[in-house]
Amino acid sequence: MNALRIRGGRRLDGEWNIHSAKNAVLPIMAAAILTQDKTTLERCPNLSDIRYMGDILETLGCRVKRSGDVMEIDPAGLCRYEMPDQLSKKIRSSIFLLGPILSRFRKAAVTFPGGCEIGLRPIDLHLSGLRQLGVDVREEGGLILCDGQGMRAGNVHFDYPSVGATENVMMAAVLLRGRTTLHNAAREPEIADLQSFLCRMGARVSGAGTHTIAIEGVNRLHGVHYQPMADRIVAGTLMAAAAATGGTAHLTNVPCGDLCAVFSKLREMGCVITEKENEAILHAPARLNAFHQLQTQPHPGFPTDMQVQMLALAASAKGTSVIVENVFENRFTHAGDLNRMGADVLVNGRTAVVKGVPKLCGARVTARDLRGGAALAIAALGAEGETIIEHAQLIDRGYDHLEDMLCALGADAVRMEMNTQ
Ligand code: UD1
Repeated sequence: MNALRIRGGRRLDGEWNIHSAKNAVLPIMAAAILTQDKTTLERCPNLSDIRYMGDILETLGCRVKRSGDVMEIDPAGLCRYEMPDQLSKKIRSSIFLLGPILSRFRKAAVTFPGGCEIGLRPIDLHLSGLRQLGVDVREEGGLILCDGQGMRAGNVHFDYPSVGATENVMMAAVLLRGRTTLHNAAREPEIADLQSFLCRMGARVSGAGTHTIAIEGVNRLHGVHYQPMADRIVAGTLMAAAAATGGTAHLTNVPCGDLCAVFSKLREMGCVITEKENEAILHAPARLNAFHQLQTQPHPGFPTDMQVQMLALAASAKGTSVIVENVFENRFTHAGDLNRMGADVLVNGRTAVVKGVPKLCGARVTARDLRGGAALAIAALGAEGETIIEHAQLIDRGYDHLEDMLCALGADAVRMEMNTQ
């Protein structure tokens, strides 16, 4: 087990260049098996979720090579259509491979995927989307067995705009002859990035970013060199980190247009944000104001992946903030840890009422999921004294050495190996 030690009270002031987004890289890695050619991805962060996805691809017969932040995926040896059981349980994104494997083999076998414990996270929308493409899906002994012999292009309607299900069905459809239309598709920017990647491979996909995505099937795809989009959640987290200390952050490679909802809340709290093409500069006041209400929604609403970081900021803001989590049902698990740091957070179902206290104080706390761990780091930066965040390895699922990013902005943050005996 490892931990982060953060000594709070330092005003952050520094620069950071944002890496490619985990949520863009993962589906793109899955899409790389839609061709037999090599794909090269640039500016890939070194994240445990990405390493697990690489391991899964290797188990299926691909070669995955990393050199610095460049990753090469060679799917020429792809030979298995059964997902490895234990590895697949480590990351929810393993489910993304279902669509591409079906496309390549017309059959697939997977176990239920794993991931952060932030809610029920079923996969019914993925399976329903694939069924609408003619896939026969059966569950047998904890395995999901898919028979894609009858796959054909057509209309797919999602009952809810799930990000992963939209991406999965897009990937399943690109090589089907004819036109597939996805209705009520999710609109997250990472889906538009997957569309760009697929189109660079030779696919004909349009409409990503809207609720209707149209796919004209092609016969084959080829390998490409691609830089996935920058991570809007890492950018938002670092801005929140600077805001917690009344500081400044100058971030480059920021997808500003995709951060509208986050910028708007930070501005409501009193921050001044200057946006310049792919750069954003934040100046925070000495003490933030509470926001009236924050409701998470599918994009372009406020992203659930930034909710708990905002909760951490609200904990020491002037006034009372209300947060409603509409996307996942279990995303307030860090309220107790923040309360241990002196916060006043009351959770009732999907709503949290946060009464800002003048100052948080350092404590020993535990990261329970990826974003929650980052939120504790944000709280720690603005707190008095030292905070130890245990289980910091969960933060590594989505932040490539968060402590390095924070130190570059002027924080006192170090990684510690904890003795578990
Ligand atoms: C993706 C992101 C994740 C983000 C989430 C919402 C990746 C790798 N992860 O996750 O960081 O928090 O979008 O923006 O891109 N649901 C079902 N059945 C399904 C699928 C989802 O009920 O088959 C529910 C989920 O439990 C959740 C909601 O739909 O309550 C949204 O999930 P979804 O949009 O699918 O998120 P993910 O793709 O898992």
